[in-house]
Amino acid sequence: NKGKYEHYMQKEIHEQPESVTTTMRGRLIRGGSSKAKTVLLGGLKYHLKTIRRSRRIVFIGCGTSCNAALAARSIVEELSGIPVTMEIASDLVDRQGPIYREDTAVFVSQLGGTADTLLALEYALENGALCVGITNTVGSEIARRTHCGVHINAGCEIGVASTKAYTSQIIVMAMLALAIGGDTLSNQARREVIIDGLVDLPCKVKEVLKLDNEIKDLAKLLIAEQSLLVFGRGYNYATALEGALKVKEVALMHSEGILAGEMKHGPLALVDANLPIAVIATRDACFSKQQSVIQQLNARKGRLIVMCTKGDAASVSVGGSCRVIEVPQVEDCLQPVVNVVPLQLLAYHLTVLRGHNVDQPRNLAKSVTTQ
Ligand code: UD1
Ligand code: BG6
Repeated sequence: NKGKYEHYMQKEIHEQPESVTTTMRGRLIRGGSSKAKTVLLGGLKYHLKTIRRSRRIVFIGCGTSCNAALAARSIVEELSGIPVTMEIASDLVDRQGPIYREDTAVFVSQLGGTADTLLALEYALENGALCVGITNTVGSEIARRTHCGVHINAGCEIGVASTKAYTSQIIVMAMLALAIGGDTLSNQARREVIIDGLVDLPCKVKEVLKLDNEIKDLAKLLIAEQSLLVFGRGYNYATALEGALKVKEVALMHSEGILAGEMKHGPLALVDANLPIAVIATRDACFSKQQSVIQQLNARKGRLIVMCTKGDAASVSVGGSCRVIEVPQVEDCLQPVVNVVPLQLLAYHLTVLRGHNVDQPRNLAKSVTTQ
């Protein structure tokens, strides 16, 4: 049932204030003023000790699920102190890459039945790693075959292009970081601001959804383009990849997410006065570097769309044709949850304006159960 919406993708994008709330329900424990705030992930209760002892955490998935894991990578590293590596499921299997008994392998899959992810799971089980699932589907093969895991509880997602599952996956992995980090004193202040940030997140997602009309106007400007580049770095490198994936999947427009730190090592050659380039430059430790990226793209007459923190328009805008999208600020590691929303909306509106099928894009399937 699409309710008041025209498409499931649109409904699922707008449902995110509620879906992120259900993902967190019962899992954030906010004690009194003297009591530390903590996270409780029931599914990991008996395995946290093993996870904390592991030598490495390996995130494994495909498509959007892989991007969600990348978005959470650095907060998991920061709070757990354990190195985190990323594997695209098919590539791990192709390479027969190293997976050890001392590893925790985390399988991220919204539907829990993706063939490539299941093959990687079989491989990790054979190699003796502790296998943890993060999935939206109770009873799915990944949920059943992993040793333990967390259901993201985002509710059923029908649009082939994943939207609300993505934001819920990031939230679960941020909670995973908090759970592994445990109650170490050194991280306590950071943990508490993240938990407060999680509690506030549904409001911020609601706020960013108000950009809908503004983004629709932006989509009108891009309707006839052949390509869109999206530059991000740090916490929002994954946002760039995921935004570009959405545009590619549904709007059938070439789009590429680019690590801004790599700009000078190739992508700069593409910049001219015609190619639209989105730059994610919200406030975090990388902000000044992104300001300099904007200056350099502008110096080459790049056609820029800049996503910045509310109130920062003047510090990022390079005048002329530059378009600015202002988003609410949240704790740095949660910012990808907010920042992906305008890009989801952009992909959605571009698709409708270009006259393509939103919910069942050409040649794609929601669940890829064959190799
Ligand atoms: C569970 C209940 C939830 C209830 C809550 C109350 C289920 C599915 N969940 O939620 O309805 O409100 O207790 O305390 O009954 N698992 C895997 N692999 C995965 C995902 C999950 O092995 O990929 C396992 C977990 O380790 C756990 C079980 O499935 O044993 C349920 O996981 P989850 O729903 O995340 O647990 P709770 O949040 O505790
Ligand atoms: C398919 C879907 O390619 O599988 C994508 O079209 C999805 O949206 C990918 O990201 C992985 O699916 P899952 O269920 O393993 O997260």
